[in-house]
Amino acid sequence: MLKHRIIKNLEDNRQGSLSASAAYPRTRMRRLRSQGWIRDMVAEHSLSAADLIWPVFVTEGKNQRESIKSMPGVERRSIDLTIEALRQAHDTGILATALFPVVPEENKTMDGREAVNPDNLMCRAIAEIKNALPEMGIITDVALDPYTTHGHDGLVQDGKILNDETVEILCQQALVQAESGADVIAPSDMMDGRIGRIRDALEEANHTDTLILSYAAKYASSFYGPFRDAVGSGDFLKGDKKTYQMNPAGTDEALREVALDIQEGADMVMVKPGLPYLDVIHRVKETFKIPTFAYHVSGEYAMLKAAASSGALNYEQALAETMMAFKRAGADAILTYAATDIAKLLQEKAA
Ligand code: PBG
Repeated sequence: MLKHRIIKNLEDNRQGSLSASAAYPRTRMRRLRSQGWIRDMVAEHSLSAADLIWPVFVTEGKNQRESIKSMPGVERRSIDLTIEALRQAHDTGILATALFPVVPEENKTMDGREAVNPDNLMCRAIAEIKNALPEMGIITDVALDPYTTHGHDGLVQDGKILNDETVEILCQQALVQAESGADVIAPSDMMDGRIGRIRDALEEANHTDTLILSYAAKYASSFYGPFRDAVGSGDFLKGDKKTYQMNPAGTDEALREVALDIQEGADMVMVKPGLPYLDVIHRVKETFKIPTFAYHVSGEYAMLKAAASSGALNYEQALAETMMAFKRAGADAILTYAATDIAKLLQEKAA
């Protein structure tokens, strides 16, 4: 028995486990928490503005801005005002943006063909932003939902979402975006096999340095509601997206999705939504050691804002804690509508 205990302790020590600590009072965990400087010095994780990606909603027109009811503080902006906002964001240290177009109703069709128009709102936005702010990373959404009259991410036939036919269009969509100057193609559609086909299409067109951020583990979530308001697809959406987005009841499936996307050529993978899926972020990062991004989605942002406005919690503090949760889980970068708020907080802290 004693021998067993000693061997066990040796094993534990070799693994650097808790038995390497002296017992209380030689060890008092609170010593390392007793003052701000020591807490900061031994902090296991940190957050910087370079970890943040700011998603923005772009509309047609000039000098246009509209607020979004369910997302206080978030606006749809025309390209010119988007450039101004991005310039300010860049000044606070934000290095990348994710663009989402608000497509006018008259440009929506059953087949979403506006998605592959090289002169569509998205492509004009990419080109103009790249021209004005060449140092800003531009991430672009590949999926058909802003462009379809049914609000689905793919083609629909007899109530079914067609996979392979959709992938063909997504390749063309990725190409027009890459031609316009997108740095990162981000397919958010969850069709099977699209990463490999898009990678091949980019290679063939000589866009060898265009990155792919795959929305690899994207769940069929109720937390996307405010986003659908923002891009104006919510009122159009018929049914749900459960035949292509993932079932919230599991995580093994997420690992299979990520493994496939890596094999197909994804440079980075995303888990979405964020906070309700920290276990998925953790498993993906532990398993694949690949750049893993978290999407703090519209509904999560809306919840935080609503709780803050009712006085239930402090927005800045809860936000900072949320971002740290993502870092702890293993996220390398975070897409969040609060990116500019966080960057400002980080600046204030550093000043
Ligand atoms: C659609 C898309 C969605 C989001 C990003 N791209 C919504 C959906 O799948 O219906 C959601 C983002 C958010 O909620 O912030 N391709």
